[in-house]
Amino acid sequence: MSPSHRSSSTTRAHRLNETLVALPPSGIREFFELVIAMDDIISLGVGEPDFVTPWNVREYAMFTLERGDTSYTSNKGILALRREIAGYMAHRFGVTYDPENEVLVTVGASQGLDLSMRAILNPGDEAIVIEPSYVAYKPMVALAGGVPVVVTLRYENNFRLDLAELRAAVTPRTRAILLNYPSNPTGGTFTKEECRHIAALAEEYDLILISDEIYAEMTYDQEHYCMADQPGARDRTIVLNGFSKAFAMTGWRMGFAAGPADLIAGMTKIFQYSMLSAPIMSQNAAIEALRKRHQNVPHMVETFNQRRRLFVEGLRAIGIDCHMPEGAFYAYPCIRKFGLSSREFCTRLLKEERIAVVPGTAFGPAGEGFVRCAYAAGFQELEQALEGMKNLIGRL
Ligand SMILES: Cc1ncc(COP(=O)(O)O)c(C=O)c1O
Repeated sequence: MSPSHRSSSTTRAHRLNETLVALPPSGIREFFELVIAMDDIISLGVGEPDFVTPWNVREYAMFTLERGDTSYTSNKGILALRREIAGYMAHRFGVTYDPENEVLVTVGASQGLDLSMRAILNPGDEAIVIEPSYVAYKPMVALAGGVPVVVTLRYENNFRLDLAELRAAVTPRTRAILLNYPSNPTGGTFTKEECRHIAALAEEYDLILISDEIYAEMTYDQEHYCMADQPGARDRTIVLNGFSKAFAMTGWRMGFAAGPADLIAGMTKIFQYSMLSAPIMSQNAAIEALRKRHQNVPHMVETFNQRRRLFVEGLRAIGIDCHMPEGAFYAYPCIRKFGLSSREFCTRLLKEERIAVVPGTAFGPAGEGFVRCAYAAGFQELEQALEGMKNLIGRL
């Protein structure tokens, strides 16, 4: 190559993966660029608990560092942690897994999602995504070579899944259904009956269920029914879960996948080449988090529950319609009647009242007319956010 060729190559744009180029930027990130540029914001934007990781977990992680645990671990994760996870799944959700070959420790539930998509999809395979949905689902399907097929939930139907619509979305190319309950962003969850119907549909069409149950612990007025515990579902379901939310451990990047041995083996094979092992200090912390979960999780969940009521009742009191969320820590109020788009509403709330919430459209086009508010903030901040919203809508 001539020198002139070499120097010109530093200024031209590089050719990137076409699927990547076609992906839209994350609606959340885009909006948060605006937020980051401003001071003194009350943020109900980020889906992150406002608790720091409980002290016993931090202390235990420091102890393991002190004793010199700084190595790689088994690709699947420390066996003691996999045993804790299997015990947790059995006691908390009624599903038994063999810690040797049916549990994989992942770098957040996010990595479990990525690995599961890459393990099961062939180019052109379809995966059904239920919208409004967590922002990563469609991109992860696409990056794995698959085609996301959307089933839309409607406010008028209480954001409940219409099983006839789910069935209608199945084609001969459908390989999987991605589920997330309790849901980010709607806060809705599934009843036992709904879980059973979904499982039966998956069995009928021989589909895999990728069930992201990361908010399972935060289910308020009913039990959480694990998808793998439904008749016929265990051997076609990969349950994704993790420590970010109910255990207040976002920065540790700890998650896990539990499922039938062949699917977990497929995911582990990708993991072997791409990650080697999850960080050992985080795995040690996760062991402690599970062992002492009764000490920490229930009181954090109860705090979210109280905030949920305060915030949603507060929204209704100022004239904003909102379903009572059944789980997670998100409220998804409807702002249609104020005549602004979701984005306009959020931008004005941010600029005029210094309150950050996320436009509903970040979670798919069906989110137009909604905003997502994470009530993972202190009571005082929630009160201030409500006050700011009241001021804004008073001017509209
Ligand atoms: C539904 C859902 N799944 C997965 C994740 C990512 O979790 P993790 O921090 O374990 O990667 C999030 C984070 O917001 C989420 O809301």
